[in-house]
Amino acid sequence: MDSGILQTEKDTSMDPSTSAGVDKLGGTSSSVLSSNQHVTPILDHELQHLSLESKPKSSKPKIKKPASISEYKPEPWMLQSDDQEIRRQINLAVVGHVDSGKSTLCGRLLHALGLISKKQMHKYEKEAKEKGKGSFAYAWAMDEGPDERERGITMTVAVKYFDTEKYHVVLLDSPGHKDFVPNMISGATQADAAVLVVDASIGSFEAGMGVNGIGQTKEHSQLIRSFGVENLIVAVNKMDMVEYSKDRFNFVKSQLGIFLRSCGFKDSSITWVPLSAMANENLMTTASDSRLLSWYNGNCLLKSIDSLPPPQRDVSRPLRLPICDVIASITLGQMAFCGKVEAGGIRTGSKVLVMPSGDLATVKTIERDSSSCNLARAGDNIAVGLQGMDPSHLVSGGVICHPDFPVHVASRLELKILVLEITTPILVGLQFELHIHHARVSASLVKILSLLDQKTGKASKKMPRLLTTRQAAVVEVKLDKEVCVEEFSALKALGRVFLRSRGNTVAVGIVTRILDEA
Ligand code: GTP
Ligand code: MG
Repeated sequence: MDSGILQTEKDTSMDPSTSAGVDKLGGTSSSVLSSNQHVTPILDHELQHLSLESKPKSSKPKIKKPASISEYKPEPWMLQSDDQEIRRQINLAVVGHVDSGKSTLCGRLLHALGLISKKQMHKYEKEAKEKGKGSFAYAWAMDEGPDERERGITMTVAVKYFDTEKYHVVLLDSPGHKDFVPNMISGATQADAAVLVVDASIGSFEAGMGVNGIGQTKEHSQLIRSFGVENLIVAVNKMDMVEYSKDRFNFVKSQLGIFLRSCGFKDSSITWVPLSAMANENLMTTASDSRLLSWYNGNCLLKSIDSLPPPQRDVSRPLRLPICDVIASITLGQMAFCGKVEAGGIRTGSKVLVMPSGDLATVKTIERDSSSCNLARAGDNIAVGLQGMDPSHLVSGGVICHPDFPVHVASRLELKILVLEITTPILVGLQFELHIHHARVSASLVKILSLLDQKTGKASKKMPRLLTTRQAAVVEVKLDKEVCVEEFSALKALGRVFLRSRGNTVAVGIVTRILDEA
């Protein structure tokens, strides 16, 4: 398998019935994006290009830059992250082909860490057995929905927490089934690192690699890489099914390794762990089965998680906290929301700017994992209670900012996009839905400025008439409504976009220029 073969995989398109997660999630999440296309490594390479490329010199941007962004200095409390007694948070997406054992692995971990009571586990075992799904008992700790249990597959992302020596781990157990790729993406967009679970058993690993059709081992790897995940643990699961064979492990490692490299993962950022979630082998403690012990003396899964490099926390920039969901709770009050701090920090008692309305509000309460805290920094998922503003101005898709450094608000953007698998070419005038962080807005394609060479990222043709599958281009789009946005080069999380049309993701891209500003 080499990159040449990868190119031939362009024709692997997925079942178009992927809208399940989209409607359900509504407009509240960038994670709602659906991709029922097979994204090749070009996407990743292209995104890397895109992020490095300087802006075209010829046209003058009409934008007003926030005048004083260079004057921003983080306050001391934002920087003191290492001497805090609280563990650093790491969002870990668990991804991989259907039935590879992701939920079982998560359930096993939680159980072994004492986070599932004996009584609860007993209940899972009993109920799973009654339904003729005895082997799914651990997965039931993650798959809580009745449909999920009935079908024995994960449909939505289950979120659980546990602590290692170094980290407060937010575990995002993603669905592997191809119909639920949009939901898997919701986990991937929040991930700092990922555990890619592969089924080592004969035939199953091959299925995940797409030997007989579409393999989500590959698709998920490409997606998480394109969302900026650099560090990966490959959990080579179900080793009990292959007698803990060193040869089989090495085969999986070499085959998948070539592919992961082609996606842009560095060898040094991949940790390979042979294990059996079912037999609780090499999960929490070093290997105990003599067949595994005879050739493996590396880290167990938990140790590998603990050895991941800490996620970058961008506190050098002013507060940016995209609003994922507006909520109301007894502890947070009637005016509250949840989201992930993407830049800067936030503290109780401080004033924040609520965009796009421009309301000033005071931070009343902050909660992390349902317990209150005084402050949060970039990388933290939190829920926040506000006071002193018009509640109708608090909307999902908005962004909470530092009062002196508002986020850009714009309705005309220049994007660099990569077209996914499409059946009809993209023409000027195309109406689509633009997804950016947790906002989604109707938009139209105003201009196709240039086609980009896939390899160099340079413009290869000016003003092409249309775009087809796999082409990369610079385009101008007009939004029906203003959105909060940053250029990708300034803040990735607020400058990454998805274009959806008729229930399909037709292109992914980044914001290269903000062309007008409110
Ligand atoms: P989706 O979420 O639907 O993609 O599946 P999943 O990856 O979460 O797999 P799940 O945990 O639901 O497990 C699928 C099946 O594999 C179940 O029958 C598990 O018992 C079985 N399984 C999981 N881990 C192991 C393992 O280490 N060894 C063996 N033999 N079976 C396993
Ligand atoms: Mg599952």
